[in-house]
Amino acid sequence: MSKPKVYVTREIPERGLEIIKARFDAEVWSEYAPPPKETIVRKVTNVDALAPLLSDKIDAEVFDAGPKLRIVAQMAVGFDNIDVKEATKRGIYVTNTPGVLTETTADFAWALLMALARRVIEANEYVRNGQWKVGWHPSMLLGRDVYGATIGIVGAGRIGSAVARRAKGFNMRILYHDVVPRPNLEKELGAEPQDLETLLREADFISVHAPLLKETYHLIDEAKLKLMKKTAYLMNNSRGPVVDEEALYKALKEEWIAGAALDVFEQEPTPQNNPLLTLDNVVVAPHISSSSHETRSRMAEMVAENLTAFFEGRRPPNLVNPEVLEVRPLSKWL
Ligand code: GLV
Repeated sequence: MSKPKVYVTREIPERGLEIIKARFDAEVWSEYAPPPKETIVRKVTNVDALAPLLSDKIDAEVFDAGPKLRIVAQMAVGFDNIDVKEATKRGIYVTNTPGVLTETTADFAWALLMALARRVIEANEYVRNGQWKVGWHPSMLLGRDVYGATIGIVGAGRIGSAVARRAKGFNMRILYHDVVPRPNLEKELGAEPQDLETLLREADFISVHAPLLKETYHLIDEAKLKLMKKTAYLMNNSRGPVVDEEALYKALKEEWIAGAALDVFEQEPTPQNNPLLTLDNVVVAPHISSSSHETRSRMAEMVAENLTAFFEGRRPPNLVNPEVLEVRPLSKWL
């Protein structure tokens, strides 16, 4: 039997890519920038599997072009770029890479929080730009205390919970808002479940970890930002569209809130003329929360594991649409 054909939309870390190349008939898009949609549509005509990234839109147009496509094995935990409903309808399996990136992403949420609270980016510029002309001054670059403050976690799944666990070490009051109750967080950390409005009113640091769904699009909008304290900070490292950027700009410019840190944007890459980039009280990063050597390697390896399981006729460990098992039962290819 010939090997299944896989199209990998970027050079993913070697540990995963080597396995994919060894087990499958793999083609890899080797440029740094993503392949254009037309390329994916052209390549999919002839493959059994796609291994995309979160920046590739995998929708009905792609599925229509790929009559042989059986699995989409994405290297990311989020999969809002994939039309999972359409995939399921056509018997296409969809997998992601949860778990391994939880702690790495939570670390970065904390990097954003600390950078904001203690003005780390501004301080760095201050020294490098020659603004540091007085050795020490009592009001130089005043920030806000993190220790003992209140953190509000919006979306307390795997990553939100890991952010909350770190907050315990800073002796923080921990509030969370989620559609699902998280009794473990309450027991383990004394975290308090709150409605979103109360959380926004009471927290000093608000960290957004909700996935992007129809229900969470612009979850943090103008009305919600108005509820926040003037001294509070907002961090987002889930998906850009969960926060209304235009409203956020207004909130920062008009000082309804003290600052914001974004690792994700409504459009990625964010345009250079995004007005948020003109503000000193905004910390930005290019969607790198899971970007550690260890985690990205492990994510690539999970893509290989999901593909291998599927083609060996086993349920892929990270199947996001288990309903597909009814539409197209597993079968052995390898
Ligand atoms: C990154 O944003 C991911 O979803 O893995």
